[in-house]
Amino acid sequence: TSASLVLDPAFTIAPVNRRTFGTFVEHMGRCVYTGIYEPGHATADEDGFRKDVLELTRELGVSLVRYPGGNFVSGYRWEDGVGPREGRPRRLDLAWHSVETNQFGLDEFIRWCAKADVEPMMAVNLGTRGVQEALDLLEYANHPGGTALSDLRGQHGATTPYGITWWCLGNELDGPWQIGHKTATEYGRLAAETARAMRMVEPDLQLVACGSSSSRMPTFGTWEREVLRESYDFVDHISCHAYYGNDDGDTASFLASAVDMDRFIDSVVASADHVGAELKSRKRIDISFDEWNVWYGERSRRTDGPGDQWEVAPRRIEDEYNVADAVVVGNLLISLLRHSDRVAVACLAQLANVIAPIMTEPGGPAWRQPTFHPFALTSRLAAGDVLRVETSSPLIETAKFGEVPAVDAVATYDEGGKLAVFLVNRSADTPIEVEVDLTRTAVAEILEAHTLTDADPLAVNSATNPDRVTPRPTEGVQLADGRLKLTLPAISWTALGLA
Ligand code: AHR
Repeated sequence: TSASLVLDPAFTIAPVNRRTFGTFVEHMGRCVYTGIYEPGHATADEDGFRKDVLELTRELGVSLVRYPGGNFVSGYRWEDGVGPREGRPRRLDLAWHSVETNQFGLDEFIRWCAKADVEPMMAVNLGTRGVQEALDLLEYANHPGGTALSDLRGQHGATTPYGITWWCLGNELDGPWQIGHKTATEYGRLAAETARAMRMVEPDLQLVACGSSSSRMPTFGTWEREVLRESYDFVDHISCHAYYGNDDGDTASFLASAVDMDRFIDSVVASADHVGAELKSRKRIDISFDEWNVWYGERSRRTDGPGDQWEVAPRRIEDEYNVADAVVVGNLLISLLRHSDRVAVACLAQLANVIAPIMTEPGGPAWRQPTFHPFALTSRLAAGDVLRVETSSPLIETAKFGEVPAVDAVATYDEGGKLAVFLVNRSADTPIEVEVDLTRTAVAEILEAHTLTDADPLAVNSATNPDRVTPRPTEGVQLADGRLKLTLPAISWTALGLA
């Protein structure tokens, strides 16, 4: 029941990529309406943005936000959401069986991004639409002026172009649930032609082709290969989406979800590099992990709307996260950081109310879910280079992944000599002592140490008890003679800042 880690600043994976700390705002449920946007709310600013949510977004340490979907984008007409609000049409949103009022659209999103201090990432509709509409959106968003669509943006109050660099070429088009679902070859051709035309406008865009909507899709692997065979020369990234839950009561496997994320990333990297090899290309395709989180099919259904009525901003998949879920989220961030050499972007899906770290009540308060904390601390502490960590750990048995190390860890080290270490104990019942060998670093002092754990791993936060679950100072952590010693409680996540 003890583990050890060796950290050596000489062995680095890649610089910490700030875009690892992206999230996602979809027109779905209450993510936009009564989530980030609620005119009339006590904290609403002149744009109708909830200032309490803006503040929490900044505290969360978000770097980038993907928008406007998700499944929603595959039936979306972006032009419905710009121009005078009173003239904007109400439309059926087939993806989430609700009514879209279009009171929030691209111009509002860009204003919100500036206030939240995040970079926008836009998705274009390649479900019901194609190359022309993607070009129109790009011209409206990014062209300086002197053309119909760029001047229209100016008339709407934005003379400065939005300069959006990151673009998703559709969403989950491998999924039969997707409006405009396609075969890999059909989608690969469309992605290639859309990308090629978008680059005629702006060569330096960062373009993301859709990978599989999960590694459990029957087409996983062949989808990536076929899409990239068609589009390799025109796109920069391939997307990954993964959601983990504990619906079947297999807690051991659930706590080890990051093992699946590790394998998923490695497989997609291998698939992309295989196509690169086939094409004799010197170009490398990286990963945009633009949807990831814990998501419970079963638990979330409790807060779903009836489904047979067309409502505005109905409650959809408002998962209430517990301590164990937060530990898994912390571990998934460890996996993403460990893959910083190939993961260019990652987006926690989503930001507010819909499987989200931030919850709100209409007209009421906003609060942090337990999953908020590992994200916020990792974003704040990770800096410099990601280190290649050598870990030796007791193993635990899982039904889904076989034997896996109980302790997983990653570390970052910056030029100023600041070290951050992130650790997780995935054992459901056994505390584990850990010794971290820091003798190869210049570190002499623990600046901060936080652990998220609880006697009740099912404890949650709520509007009336918003801080029931928060990280606490790590008990008994010591640093002497270059050796850091601590005990990781069962089902726990720990973040340490040292210098
Ligand atoms: O994030 C919720 C949904 O999950 C997204 O709309 C879709 O892309 C994915 O299936």
